[in-house]
Amino acid sequence: MFGFGQMISILKKSPKKIVFTEGEDERILEASSRLLASSFLHPILVGNEEKIAAAAEEAGFNIRGAQIIDPENYDRMDEMVDSLCEIRKKKGLTPERAREVLKQANYFGTMLVKMGVADSLLGGATYSTADTVRPALQIIKTKPGNSIVSSCFILVRPRATGENEVLAMADCAININPTEDELVEIAGETAECAKIFGIEPKMAFLSYSTHGSGAGETVDKMSNAAKKAKAKYPDIPIDGELQFDAAVSPRVARTKCPDSEIAGHANTFIFPDINAGNIGYKIAQRMGNFDAYGPILLGLNAPVNDLSRGCNALEVYSMAIITAALA
Ligand SMILES: CC(C)(COP(=O)(O)OP(=O)(O)OC[C@H]1O[C@@H](n2cnc3c(N)ncnc32)[C@H](O)[C@@H]1OP(=O)(O)O)[C@@H](O)C(=O)NCCC(=O)NCCS
Repeated sequence: MFGFGQMISILKKSPKKIVFTEGEDERILEASSRLLASSFLHPILVGNEEKIAAAAEEAGFNIRGAQIIDPENYDRMDEMVDSLCEIRKKKGLTPERAREVLKQANYFGTMLVKMGVADSLLGGATYSTADTVRPALQIIKTKPGNSIVSSCFILVRPRATGENEVLAMADCAININPTEDELVEIAGETAECAKIFGIEPKMAFLSYSTHGSGAGETVDKMSNAAKKAKAKYPDIPIDGELQFDAAVSPRVARTKCPDSEIAGHANTFIFPDINAGNIGYKIAQRMGNFDAYGPILLGLNAPVNDLSRGCNALEVYSMAIITAALA
């Protein structure tokens, strides 16, 4: 079951603040007005107050009560500059350069999370994934015990029975060509995230080969990563390398890998690289009628998430709730 209602209940018990880096964007304003109608998640809009108010009025959204913070006249800017210089001192960041960098809403918004003004951040309605994620990598950083930040998508489609089919796919958005060990870390983080969405993970490490039917460097990578992941997470049912049909079709699984514990029933998919992952989730979304939530960033010290530039206001609203609930 997709635990959206549960996330709202969690937030109702402990309301949070979320930064939107693109405060003037119409989709952000619509999602903010919807959030402001309840009180479990409070939007902080980055941008010029007059421009944001004018944009909201023109689009017809009531954003009364939203906190608006303008990098051009933020009263804690000196403190923010000092803090950013401290964080980036190994990179030799000067106060002058920090002041320039903080004029950009993606860096400014990320610093609001770092300074505790907000609990989480959602950006990317107009910024690219790289421009949303890079400040988080540099400022929020990877949480202790992790070596990388990665990401997963949660895919949701109603079944004929009325309940939802929910899948997890990773890493479709951040790591371009993860190593075996990075795939193991991605698998562990993805399993944790999948559980939050009510998925009992049955995990397939995907390839163009099933249990040695094909050969090649990337086949070995997925087979070795699956072995390492099985050893590291003995409680998660894992198999690989598997082709996608063997992973999801019981009939194909009976022919290709009859002894597999999960083949035919996999619901959590680890892709060999970002090409496969990004193309794979978009096929599910565009041709398989799944709603795609993500990329949900995994392994960061605080929740920051990225929107697709093609997103609509409902997706902004949903991702805001997911992001804040992860806080
Ligand atoms: C995530 C991404 C933007 C980072 O690229 P980048 O900014 O060029 O990365 P850099 O190598 O310059 O690293 C910037 C910082 O982030 C850190 N970093 C980079 N990738 C990281 C990762 N996966 N996990 C943790 N930290 C990472 C680096 O260590 C570096 O830190 P430092 O400045 O403190 O030394 C890059 O991997 C990327 O473009 N991925 C694909 C994004 C995309 O287009 N997705 C498809 C659309 S959804």
